[in-house]
Amino acid sequence: MTLGECLRAAVKKLETSGVAMSSLEARYLLCEAGDFTQPQLLLDTEIAVSPKVAQLMDTLVERRVRGEPLSRILGHAEFWGLSLTVTPAVLDPRGDTETLVRAARTLMGERLEERLRILDLGTGSGALLCALLSEFKASWGVGVDISFAASVNAKQNLMLNGLDGRGSVLSGDWSKSLIGGFDLIISNPPYIEHGAISELAVEVRDYDPALALDGGTDGYDCYREIIPDLPRLLNSGGWAIFEAGAGQAGAIKATLESSGFTDAVGFEDYGGHERAIAVRKSF
Ligand SMILES: C[S@@+](CC[C@H](N)C(=O)[O-])C[C@H]1O[C@@H](n2cnc3c(N)ncnc32)[C@H](O)[C@@H]1O
Repeated sequence: MTLGECLRAAVKKLETSGVAMSSLEARYLLCEAGDFTQPQLLLDTEIAVSPKVAQLMDTLVERRVRGEPLSRILGHAEFWGLSLTVTPAVLDPRGDTETLVRAARTLMGERLEERLRILDLGTGSGALLCALLSEFKASWGVGVDISFAASVNAKQNLMLNGLDGRGSVLSGDWSKSLIGGFDLIISNPPYIEHGAISELAVEVRDYDPALALDGGTDGYDCYREIIPDLPRLLNSGGWAIFEAGAGQAGAIKATLESSGFTDAVGFEDYGGHERAIAVRKSF
């Protein structure tokens, strides 16, 4: 079998199984299976693929067809242009979550050169922490996660991206072990209603850790735990930015208001959902 034939067979199988970006995903899988480069897949289509590589490719395609996300198969994902290692202990970082980084860039763009103190609550893979430290190049940041395995993954990603000199990771329960003094707090907490988890797509339900998804009975448990501590944690003039699930923005703003944060600002993702909710400590 040639490289071109192997690729075409994989695209067809993925396409038939309903994988949206079948051509792109097949190329990533083939690079993984045979240690090929993307240009090779375009230029060396007539070279022979060894039976061992063809068999491994079949296995990888089969895993994808059964619903395993590409990033889980490859063990890495891209977020805000950074490459991140993704272990089973962490949420697969989502494109929509980049809305929070865009919000921080928009709201604090004039402070890019300052030595800010950044906090990422529920850091998971460290996606948000890494992205923010890559933007705010003079800043220092800390990520917190209750999962020790996740905090190890986040630390690994700081190192992988050369950001560990300005970032550290703690394993703990939200902000309970922190004193405060932060200029920017970011959080994408678990926000799926407990009862809805079994209804989620296989890619999410079977591969993202329950600890990263479960927001309690109505989905808002974590916001209720984190938000009352914001006045203590934030410096005056500092911003807190939260991710919201589709349709959750109103309830999160109400929780923020009850802790003294009026004038919340919303940022939409590319699907038109109010995805990032930002508030400034003006008191
Ligand atoms: C939705 S994931 C977000 C991960 C990452 N920030 C991202 O955006 O890709 C939520 C994270 O919060 C963590 N978490 C859940 N409960 C926590 C708690 N009480 N304290 C700290 N982290 C917690 C989970 O382990 C998980 O990594």
